[in-house]
Amino acid sequence: MGSIVTFANKKGGSGKTSSVVNSAGVLGARGYKVLLIDLDPQAHLSFWSGVNTYDTYLSIYDALVGKCSGEDALFKTEHGLYDVIPAATNFSMGLLRELLDGECPEGRLAKVLINLKNEYDYVLIDTPPTVAVLTLNALVASTHVLIPILLNFLAIEGLAQLTQSIYKINAGFNPDVRMAGIIPNQYNIRSNHSKRVMKEIQENFGEDMVSPRIRNDIKVAEAPEYRVPINLFAPKSRGCMDFNLLADFIIEKTSGVK
Ligand SMILES: Nc1ncnc2c1ncn2[C@@H]1O[C@H](COP(=O)(O)OP(=O)(O)O)[C@@H](O)[C@H]1O
Ligand SMILES: [Mg+2]
Repeated sequence: MGSIVTFANKKGGSGKTSSVVNSAGVLGARGYKVLLIDLDPQAHLSFWSGVNTYDTYLSIYDALVGKCSGEDALFKTEHGLYDVIPAATNFSMGLLRELLDGECPEGRLAKVLINLKNEYDYVLIDTPPTVAVLTLNALVASTHVLIPILLNFLAIEGLAQLTQSIYKINAGFNPDVRMAGIIPNQYNIRSNHSKRVMKEIQENFGEDMVSPRIRNDIKVAEAPEYRVPINLFAPKSRGCMDFNLLADFIIEKTSGVK
């Protein structure tokens, strides 16, 4: 079995989707078998991966409520660097109720992945800023958690709470999931503020818990339009260089070597 890594942060715009897709692109290009799970009803990851999100198709939500298997909902990307179980923009109150009414609502994703996870080296999970039960499903299914954050002081407020909630998951649902690190995103090389916030995070959480920073790079923002990860869109960009270092960090943190 490989590693199952959830990218979580309730704050929207912190870089969850960008981190998942671009790390996956790099890991896939290095020969790892990678599966992405899109749990966010905004379905940005699915769109970015080439899913026509206006169509009707089987999504992760159908799998979570038992309408189909994870394998049935699997989407193969054209570039082949990773597979995706897509989200759908029609996630509804009805579906949420169906999810919550069933037995063990927080354990559904773990069940969906029970056989699938053996086919992949890495399963990376993108989570929504809302619908807590979806993020809870991700954490219950995972071996590791990464937290992308924007480099400003308001963004780091709440970080301690996030790490606390992982301990609660350990105690209540999944003793194995562990915090793998924080991903400082949108680092501005010309700003002292970025430097200071980075230092503050390293002091609070320990340097080994902070991944190499992802710099601000317009190429990162442009890649989704072309439906490919940064390493296919702009292989010589700063962003591509940074996501390669992030992939190294992910490999190291999930390898069992501490
Ligand atoms: N390093 C970066 N440089 C430039 N733009 C970025 C970077 N990381 C993310 N973005 C942009 O910021 C926005 C939010 O990022 P996203 O990954 O969608 O965050 P989240 O999934 O946490 O909401 C997107 O428009 C994305 O293209
Ligand atoms: Mg997102």
